[in-house]
Amino acid sequence: MTFFHYRAGLLHAEDVPVDEIAAAAGTPVYIYSAAAMRARYRSLAAALTGLRARICYAVKANHNLAVIRTLAAEGAGADTVSWGEIARAHQAGVAPGRIVYAGVGKGDDEIRRALQLGILQFNVESVEEMRRIAGIAAAMGRVAPVALRINPDIGAGAHDKISTGRKGDKFGVAYQEAGQVLGEAMRLPGIQPVGLHLHIGSQITELEPFAAAFARAAGVYRELKGSGVPLERLDLGGGLGVRYNDETPLDPVAYGLMLRDVLGDLDAELVLEPGRWLVAEAGILVAGVLYPKMAEERHFLVLDAGMNTLLRPAMYGARHAILPVRRQDGAADQLVDVVGPICESSDIFGRAYALPPLESGDLVALTSAGAYGAVMMSDYNSRSSAAEVLIDGPDYAIVKAMRPVEEQFADDRIPDWLPHPPS
Ligand code: LLP
Repeated sequence: MTFFHYRAGLLHAEDVPVDEIAAAAGTPVYIYSAAAMRARYRSLAAALTGLRARICYAVKANHNLAVIRTLAAEGAGADTVSWGEIARAHQAGVAPGRIVYAGVGKGDDEIRRALQLGILQFNVESVEEMRRIAGIAAAMGRVAPVALRINPDIGAGAHDKISTGRKGDKFGVAYQEAGQVLGEAMRLPGIQPVGLHLHIGSQITELEPFAAAFARAAGVYRELKGSGVPLERLDLGGGLGVRYNDETPLDPVAYGLMLRDVLGDLDAELVLEPGRWLVAEAGILVAGVLYPKMAEERHFLVLDAGMNTLLRPAMYGARHAILPVRRQDGAADQLVDVVGPICESSDIFGRAYALPPLESGDLVALTSAGAYGAVMMSDYNSRSSAAEVLIDGPDYAIVKAMRPVEEQFADDRIPDWLPHPPS
């Protein structure tokens, strides 16, 4: 089922015409479908029936409070990587006991606040961090529940920059060293080892790397538990891939069967941390056409969204399918290079998109933009940010207004000892 579809030639998000939203919120605007997110959550939850498992939505994919709330109301916990994300998740209504906290660089103050709040578990990435958490927790008279992130040395993910589970990646400790680190953890005050964690990469559309990594983790888990480490949880990370163009998104039923197959008899509660899979296809980025530009060699379409709005194409070479908001009957498609307004050659969404002839003021939608879109926006070139809108059936709300450029520099301060420029 698709939640973005044409009615009488006009793109709709659920029941709302996209041009109406663009008129109300301005462009560029991210549009999220609540029904699409719920459908994804429910199909994954259903695929896990019979397994002892919980889903902690990876907030980094889209941290808008309304998005977190939509998934939290379905029962999702939150996977976070900073105090800021923990605070957002909590503010959106996620109970502290449903929040896991990962990340290679946790600061002392972040650790302190997370302990104070009473989160479910810290996913610890190094022995140094383990000792740091122990010290802080002991000084507070608390005990930190800790899952050790292991590096299973298995590569996966659509792009080198989003593969995280190979030897040499900065994440976790080598799986062969887990016993030693958890042995030390058991002797430290302020630490309660509760589990193992792994996350091998993102945008993975095959089951094999997951199965291989999970089997390896299960082996380590059994061995450690057998030797007396009181493990109760195996956190499998996220990484489930979605459709940007013609990829086949990961099938939740097949994923669930694989989990049963590989981990069915493991005495552990499973934690899943999907981000992209829950929200990517539930979002589009609607941009206005500034100019169709005819150059000697090529035909460009210049949009009011750029790498400051959606960084993925410039950063990972990602290609998001682009749709015209209004379809034109009988108009033959042209091949155009779709670019943003930023002064960088890398500010290009992609070459040779087949689109009908478009004029200044027309709208286009970049699809599968609900994950790692708005969260990676920047103020580069001092262009205003995109608005964010949540659709739910016939209803919609602006869940983040466009940030005017004046607000971007409202916090800048000019020291009064700097000389004044000439008038
Ligand atoms: N858990 C951990 C520990 C992670 O590092 C990540 C993502 C996730 C869960 C969620 O992964 P997902 O289910 O979304 O694949 N900005 C990049 C993606 C970076 C992913 C970082 N870690 C992109 O736009 O493709």
